[in-house]
Amino acid sequence: MAAAPNVAILAAGQGKRMRSALPKVLHPLAGRPLAAHVLAAVRELRPRAIAMVTGHGADDVEAALAAPDLRFVRQDPPRGTGDATRIALGALPADGVTLIGLGDVPLVPADALARLVEMAEGGRLALLTARVREPFGLGRVLRAADGSVQAIVEERDATEAQRSIDEINTGFIAAPTAMLARWVARLTPHNAQGEYYLTDVVAMAVAEGLPVGAHTVDDEASVAGVNDRAQLAALERIVQRRRAQALMLAGTSLADPDRIDIRGSLACGRDVTIDIGCVFEGDVRIDDGASIGPYCVLRDIDVGPGTRIEAFSHLDSASIGRNCRIGPYARLRPGTKLAEDVHIGNFVEVKASTLGAASKANHLAYIGDATVGSRVNYGAGSITANYDGANKHRSIIGDDVHVGSNCVLIAPISVGDGATIGGGSTIVHEAPAGQLTLTRAKQLSIARWRRPRKPAKPGAPDSGAKTE
Ligand code: UD1
Ligand code: CA
Repeated sequence: MAAAPNVAILAAGQGKRMRSALPKVLHPLAGRPLAAHVLAAVRELRPRAIAMVTGHGADDVEAALAAPDLRFVRQDPPRGTGDATRIALGALPADGVTLIGLGDVPLVPADALARLVEMAEGGRLALLTARVREPFGLGRVLRAADGSVQAIVEERDATEAQRSIDEINTGFIAAPTAMLARWVARLTPHNAQGEYYLTDVVAMAVAEGLPVGAHTVDDEASVAGVNDRAQLAALERIVQRRRAQALMLAGTSLADPDRIDIRGSLACGRDVTIDIGCVFEGDVRIDDGASIGPYCVLRDIDVGPGTRIEAFSHLDSASIGRNCRIGPYARLRPGTKLAEDVHIGNFVEVKASTLGAASKANHLAYIGDATVGSRVNYGAGSITANYDGANKHRSIIGDDVHVGSNCVLIAPISVGDGATIGGGSTIVHEAPAGQLTLTRAKQLSIARWRRPRKPAKPGAPDSGAKTE
């Protein structure tokens, strides 16, 4: 294993081809900014120090990626990757080995980077290169007849013959820091783009008679840069395909591995099944034998064993016990805790509430800021009125309570164990345990009542009036 390198990540460019107000390196891939993927890869090398060069949208980039181990340095204006590297070196230790990486190449594998660092420790300039089917737009690696690397030439500076080379520069370079500093100080912007190219250091090393090593990968996706939204979408599919594959091999059934999106971490027990079109965000854990129906969104959710989440449910920051039935069309909002055997049915919303074992709210209900006991039946159309326009108040509902349909429980309120709330009631005072509480007006019927009728319109077909 290589010693701890210094790392510079270049992320100051505007990313014009994204055509976006959001800086390119903040565009999300699998739910995380592009540059966060690169940072995760370099952190696996346990670097001595990491500097990130920011420029375009620097405030936003720095706010989004801030971390104790990360130092930001600004490049303004962006004058090329060589200029960015020079600025980064000013913020890093002057000795050891430095690895330069690009903030827009998200899937770069840590082991390939470790290989570069090892090569650089031997006193070499080390490049990560790749053979690709579609090299258009990328820097090409020029090799001598004996195979040794001579230079990198950018697409726009390349001759027709050089453009047919299929070995490309991935943008990741490692070298002894002192040499790198010496080379980048001598770069000139004499090229088609008028920029200081980091890639020109290769020819400088060769001119000094220094060996240049190349580590070549053949997995194109792992070194693909994101320059536009089509490339971003293509990488998103690759990441999702990889995650789906890993899940299936670990024992999860996916109805269709091409129709799942994991934008955080998803940990599944055994025999979990996931239907099509589901989106997982944050940290989601699904226990043994649980199933997720089609088109559900789960963000920071724990699903207990044997629980069934039915179609079109939207679940956010909740913990769901074993053998529950949720949905279809259920909404769980942050702070929801459901014990075992709980049923939450269609168009039921639960927020910041706990429900005890075997409690049920099967249709069209709202439970907010409530503590609900076990075996409670919460009727269709009933709600907790938890908000008085200024403050939120809690509802305490005991065990074995039966709340009829269409009730309004005006919080703060408490309903004792075994109480029954008659359908259609508006409850403001405590409902005692074991009793029936209701506020319903008496039913009455008026025998000879007539419905109001509209006055006949002149000209209407049944008005008898004639038209000429
Ligand atoms: C660069 C390489 C090219 C390589 C390709 C791989 C150079 C000159 N070219 O080209 O050989 O094949 O990556 O994807 O190095 N950046 C700055 N400051 C700047 C310019 C760029 O920080 O002044 C950052 C950008 O934010 C971006 C990265 O460097 O994250 C790469 O810049 P980009 O303009 O995308 O370079 P490419 O044209 O892709
Ligand atoms: Ca790029």
